[in-house]
Amino acid sequence: MKVLVTGGAGYIGSHTTVELIGAGHEVVIVDNLVNADMTCVEGACRICGADIPFEQADCCDAGAMDALFEKYRFDAVIHFAALKAVGESVSKPLEYYRNNLDSLMTVLETMRRHGTPNIVFSSSCTVYGQADRLPVTEQTPRREGSSPYGKSKQMCENILSDTIAAYGDLTAIALRYFNPIGAHPSALIGELPRGTPNNLLPFITQTAAGIREQLSIFGDDYDTPDGTNLRDYIDVVDLAQAHVAALERMFGGRSSEPFEVFNVGTGRAVSVLELVRRFEIVNGVKLNYRIVGRRAGDIVAVWADTARANRELGWTAQRSLDDTLASAWRWEKAVRGM
Ligand code: UFG
Repeated sequence: MKVLVTGGAGYIGSHTTVELIGAGHEVVIVDNLVNADMTCVEGACRICGADIPFEQADCCDAGAMDALFEKYRFDAVIHFAALKAVGESVSKPLEYYRNNLDSLMTVLETMRRHGTPNIVFSSSCTVYGQADRLPVTEQTPRREGSSPYGKSKQMCENILSDTIAAYGDLTAIALRYFNPIGAHPSALIGELPRGTPNNLLPFITQTAAGIREQLSIFGDDYDTPDGTNLRDYIDVVDLAQAHVAALERMFGGRSSEPFEVFNVGTGRAVSVLELVRRFEIVNGVKLNYRIVGRRAGDIVAVWADTARANRELGWTAQRSLDDTLASAWRWEKAVRGM
């Protein structure tokens, strides 16, 4: 099938492109390159031994989207393109709402005009906020997002659900990602944060590489076994494969409803300190870290109940945390020429 991957030059988009091509699909990448460069597109081409079509365009540009859909005639879209820095979204709410909502609506309108029936949307476990009961299932009530970024993901899920209910010509799956980490085993693609990383693992690998002097651990006085936050860290290749499974469910007409939601995580809760220590052991490096105060907006703990994805998508996270942490370090060293 022919699949448009929006944001395909980015971290999750490039890994998904590789898995789609490996599964026999044709991929076209569209990316405006505001938060990515061609490194991962080139890496994906090398991994696949293919010249993956790339188009530089903004998904909010209806004219450009029309031209793209006219040129390629897609069977499905995987919509990754979005702004994603939680902290930045608080200081730039209009940019986040404009970009994240407009790009989805423009893609949906274009799909309807061109008769493209299937979309997979990048959602996030951020839609749950701090749940009362863990692990979270897809039925866990969503809590008001704590940032414009989180709220934009909730609004996008609402837009999808309302659009699909109204028109009957689209099928959608929203995948709620937990915390994606790691890199492709080839070390040809991986996460490339611009400036100072916001997320834990890129901060760890950059500290190990000597780019950052010290890792700050945000709080060790939470109500958790070691006092640090608990998250569900999922290997980016496992996450990419969940997209292939979601698409194939729609292509096979196996969706039980036209709009479905799945948690994509491992079901395993790992603390910040555990992740740091495991990284040191697996990679034989020492990390310079210190405990500092809590980061505003952090939730204490979230991890996934993955039963629905396991059962309905026939998908389960396969990679061990150790392998994932090794892949992240291999990628950082490759980027730095170490
Ligand atoms: N952390 C540190 N030091 C750092 C960075 C992070 O201690 O330098 C801690 C955080 O306090 C948190 C954990 O590491 O406990 C994970 O933090 P991340 O920033 O890597 O990830 P978050 O769980 O905060 O956020 C991620 C994604 C969001 C997504 C959210 C959903 O970045 O896009 O998960 O919960 F919305």
